[in-house]
Amino acid sequence: MSHPALPLNAATTIADLRRHVADWRADGRRVGFVPTMGALHEGHLALVRQALKAADRVVVSVFVNPAQFAQGEDFDSYPRTLEEDAAKLARTGAQLIYAPAARQIYPDGFATEVRMGGPAAGLESAARPHFFHGVALVVAKLLNQVRPDIAVFGEKDYQQLLVIRRLAIDLDLDVEILAGETVREADGLALSSRNAYLSPEDRRRAGRLNVILAEFALALSEGAPARAAEAEAVSKAERVFDAVDYVTARDAGTLGALPDGPIQGPVRVLAAVKVGSTRLIDNMAVTPP
Ligand code: PAF
Repeated sequence: MSHPALPLNAATTIADLRRHVADWRADGRRVGFVPTMGALHEGHLALVRQALKAADRVVVSVFVNPAQFAQGEDFDSYPRTLEEDAAKLARTGAQLIYAPAARQIYPDGFATEVRMGGPAAGLESAARPHFFHGVALVVAKLLNQVRPDIAVFGEKDYQQLLVIRRLAIDLDLDVEILAGETVREADGLALSSRNAYLSPEDRRRAGRLNVILAEFALALSEGAPARAAEAEAVSKAERVFDAVDYVTARDAGTLGALPDGPIQGPVRVLAAVKVGSTRLIDNMAVTPP
């Protein structure tokens, strides 16, 4: 069923979705997929453009996944802007928006869990222990519903990207996971749907996060010992933000802790902080010395 009010093909059920994908497959088309929770911004649209380069037809899902929110988080207030999202996707050239009703994802009697270890351990999981189980569950389901050749996930959620890569290998999902570069505002703030929650004063402070991470990454790439560079970055973040969940340097492939001393291999600096009541995350690659 297509949605008459939207400016591109829309599917709301698994059957509709699969009909579109089957038609493309019958024409020999390569299928790309970008999963989102909607409230689309330039960062999402960059992922869609990347998918359009790697595939002939692109599906974008819009589903605010209750399983990745804990009680008291922003599930109810999360922005829902389906018509604007569809207009942006039509302009960007995506072929299909998949906006399933909750019952398509979690049917009556739903009783399955996906528990993630490995790259899901620590960092985001320390503050949000439910989060990656919920993400892995919905992404496994969406990938199985769409069955794309490629799927694109943003590096802005770097730990999530590694979790999805692990999930795809572990569950034999037969999809190539591509990483999309983080898109930033003029002051370097990573685009995020949650930036809409920031007051003007909080928005100004939020722009400091990428600066602190860039200085941390530079210190490591110039040979500073990991522990001292991290302590300096944490102390800068504590001076600016209302809470600091983590500011840390990790192995870029496993997210394992680093030994002290100058870094040796590929490293990622990652941070999660609170500005007012808004939680921001960001990360950057570090060039080894
Ligand atoms: O990154 C997101 O927007 C979500 O975690 C995802 C991957 C769409 C799963 O709900």
